[in-house]
Amino acid sequence: MGKLKLAVLISGRGSNLQALIDACAAPDYPAEIALVISNVAGVEGIERATNAGLPVLVIDHKKYPSRAEFDLEMTQAIEAAGVELICLAGFMRLLSEEFIDHWHNRMINIHPSLLPAFKGLDVQARAIAAGARFSGCTVHYVRFDMDTGPIITQAAVPIHTGDDADTLAARILVQEHIIYPQAVRWIAEGRVMIENQQAIVDGADAPTAAVINPLP
Ligand code: GAR
Repeated sequence: MGKLKLAVLISGRGSNLQALIDACAAPDYPAEIALVISNVAGVEGIERATNAGLPVLVIDHKKYPSRAEFDLEMTQAIEAAGVELICLAGFMRLLSEEFIDHWHNRMINIHPSLLPAFKGLDVQARAIAAGARFSGCTVHYVRFDMDTGPIITQAAVPIHTGDDADTLAARILVQEHIIYPQAVRWIAEGRVMIENQQAIVDGADAPTAAVINPLP
């Protein structure tokens, strides 16, 4: 069977793109990156894609008169590349309803919180300010309301006394790089079903242990 063709959409550093590039380098990984799109020129993620020999397009949203036209340009490029799954990886633009509908159940996102808590921006600082004892990251299918959609997988990390947004973001990012390629693998293996707006991963177990923070 052929590999699942991915488009990875970025706006910046591209460390999650790099995690997907590294996963795809393994011969038995069931997906491959067919296209990388950045809406911002000159970002580190573009260099990562180029270094990996991947096709990269910069589609600068500022050059389009409307969100719809920007999104249409992206859809045309993504379809021309034969893409089956879009992975948003630090893509910091809201997408039009048309684009989201067009890619329904064919587009996933990674977000640095335990959704549905802390949607939007500055989520690590907000989790600390709220006094939360855990945060983490979520891979989910994309729906129209920002940072909603069936959750495929999450990783939880403790929040430490003295954390700031940067130390917490770094702790979460380590887990992002594990769960994003894992979620893509499950989708490529045909193991993710969506029923009643919930994603079910066939044959994947939940851990049995609870984690308490602070330790008793
Ligand atoms: C990641 O932490 C990702 O979860 C977050 O942006 C960062 C991108 O880093 N995404 C969002 O906040 C989307 N709402 P990267 O460019 O190094 O992958």
